[in-house]
Amino acid sequence: MSFRLFISLLVFTGAAASFSRAQTVPTLQINADQVVAKASPTLYGLMTEEINYSYEGGLYGELIRNRTFKANPTNAVYWNTIGNGSISLDPATPLNNALNISLKLDATVATKDSPAGIANGGYWGIPVRPNTTYRVSFYAKAASGFTGALAAAITSTDGKTMFASADVTRITGDWKKYEVTLTTKNVELSKDNQFTITTTSPGTIWFQQVSLFPPTFNNRPNGNRPDIMQLLADMKPAFLRFPGGNYLEGNTIETRFNWKNTVGPVEQRPGHLDDGWGYWSTDGMGLLEFLEWCEDLKMQPLLAVYAGYSMRQPHVAPGADLEPYVQDALDEIEYVTGDVSTKWGAQRAKDGHPAPFPLNYIEVGNEDNFDRTGSYDARYTQFYDAIKAKHPNLQIIATTRVTTRTPDLTDEHLYPNSEGAMEARAHEFDNHIRTGPKIFVGEWATRVGAPTPNMAGALGDAAWMTGMERNSDIVLMGSYAPLFVNVSRPSRGAGGSMQWPTDLIGYDALTSYGSPSYYAQQMFSTHHGDVILAMNATDIPTKAGPAPARRGGATNQPAATTPQLPAVFSSVTRDSSSGTIYVKIVNTLGAPQPVKIEISGLTSVAADGDAVVMKANSPDDTNTITDPTHVAPITEKVTGLGADFTREFPPYSITILELKAK
Ligand code: AHR
Repeated sequence: MSFRLFISLLVFTGAAASFSRAQTVPTLQINADQVVAKASPTLYGLMTEEINYSYEGGLYGELIRNRTFKANPTNAVYWNTIGNGSISLDPATPLNNALNISLKLDATVATKDSPAGIANGGYWGIPVRPNTTYRVSFYAKAASGFTGALAAAITSTDGKTMFASADVTRITGDWKKYEVTLTTKNVELSKDNQFTITTTSPGTIWFQQVSLFPPTFNNRPNGNRPDIMQLLADMKPAFLRFPGGNYLEGNTIETRFNWKNTVGPVEQRPGHLDDGWGYWSTDGMGLLEFLEWCEDLKMQPLLAVYAGYSMRQPHVAPGADLEPYVQDALDEIEYVTGDVSTKWGAQRAKDGHPAPFPLNYIEVGNEDNFDRTGSYDARYTQFYDAIKAKHPNLQIIATTRVTTRTPDLTDEHLYPNSEGAMEARAHEFDNHIRTGPKIFVGEWATRVGAPTPNMAGALGDAAWMTGMERNSDIVLMGSYAPLFVNVSRPSRGAGGSMQWPTDLIGYDALTSYGSPSYYAQQMFSTHHGDVILAMNATDIPTKAGPAPARRGGATNQPAATTPQLPAVFSSVTRDSSSGTIYVKIVNTLGAPQPVKIEISGLTSVAADGDAVVMKANSPDDTNTITDPTHVAPITEKVTGLGADFTREFPPYSITILELKAK
């Protein structure tokens, strides 16, 4: 009997001898001198795509909504007129082939007392912070006869409070880029604000790419929001899977993430409709920005390449038809990794990043199990062979089962809609075959709570993570999804800011917060260890599992028996350089749970140590934009530890004990 099977049997034998029946104390026997496997250093990463206003109205610093006027082909949505003027879209006055439309302001009457202009309310507000400098840029041209200047400003939405304003010199009859800065004084934080460009002289003016950037993380131009970046940095993620998800595929081949349209100067990027999630992407967050995001947070890129299948079922036939898409992927890899002597490496240098990026993982497509034609096997093979021929060291991930090649990893997705359903899967890798492709859990989440998960979700997630961690010899990587949600209008309907409930990190225009699941992941990721220790879990208490789904609504069927589930989950790892042993215990019950911990194979375990604990009074407890750390971990000094001790774990809690061991 394998060691892992032995553990699983013990867990479920413990289940049979339920804690309420027997007076036994659940026990973890840890064999500290028996390393089961290396803990995968890449286990905890991030998955991201444009969903729930993740970049536009989220991580990407741009504050102007619909800055290129392409979000709607007939209306200048998210733009308003100020004073006596009118605005319209003008396809006859494009900036260039990419931004092939402009916003026309007819300021028929404009005076010092009654300026005319355009206003944008951002993504549910424009954040105003004290003593902060914002960078404004826009392209403009004027009809002959216009002699005035323009004023760029941030004001309150009612226009009554002016936070900062700057004059822009005389506008000419040719397209020209104008740049100014706006600096606020010692004002209070607010978001019910707008950005305006006004004139006090009558005339006609066209605009394109109207942009307002706050300070960004690492001061990158075209960069990211510092608060959200800091939340991510605190998770110490090992990799970033991008650009999707459904966002990679699009509904159609035309609306895929076409990376070549996302590099180069932002005014040369046409943008595209993110039709999977229903809104326009300017592609300001393009391939280079994803890579710089990785660089800033010291994450490895896990680059998903378009594989010739989109969600409404079009697919490109393997063979000659698919060849241009394979070449596109090879070009993309060259853009990431090629030196400046290569065509695409030179392009990357021209775009501002001469140094190649490290790249170890390529994912071919996304969720190709949904391709009903079954073409993935052949498509994967074509990509695999071409990529391996040029880049034999790249690990190539398949998105579903293939037979003609052995993928380096297979991407599995799971989204149980209750904590019980997730907990029921926490042991599924324990007896998994160990000889096939390694596993990448590229999307996982307990879908409980909206817009962000509550403590019940975090408990399900933590139970799941103990399973990934115990088995990280085969589960090399995992990433929660979706990562982000703008919580300003958390509904799925038109005008809503959320297409998919249960997202790890929430924000509005001004602030951001991590959900209990975010903190659970942060706890696991920052207390990782490098080896997995052997352990036996016995006499684990049980609870009723999730009710099996009823089919057909028939009432005369016998009630299905609800399976029993373990109620306590655990994993044990060690950091070999410091000797610290990390014991992770997840108590999903609403009562305190004693657990006996017996450690063998060590000289000593100190009586003092640290415990990182996150607990809640109810599984419904959660964090919100106004109460961002209602549920959050605290680190406390603990005593009474050793090679044999019993400790009580609070109701609805996730605990990491840090044992100083020799
Ligand atoms: O995470 C949300 C979506 O779920 C992803 O875009 C897709 O890959 C999955 O179906």
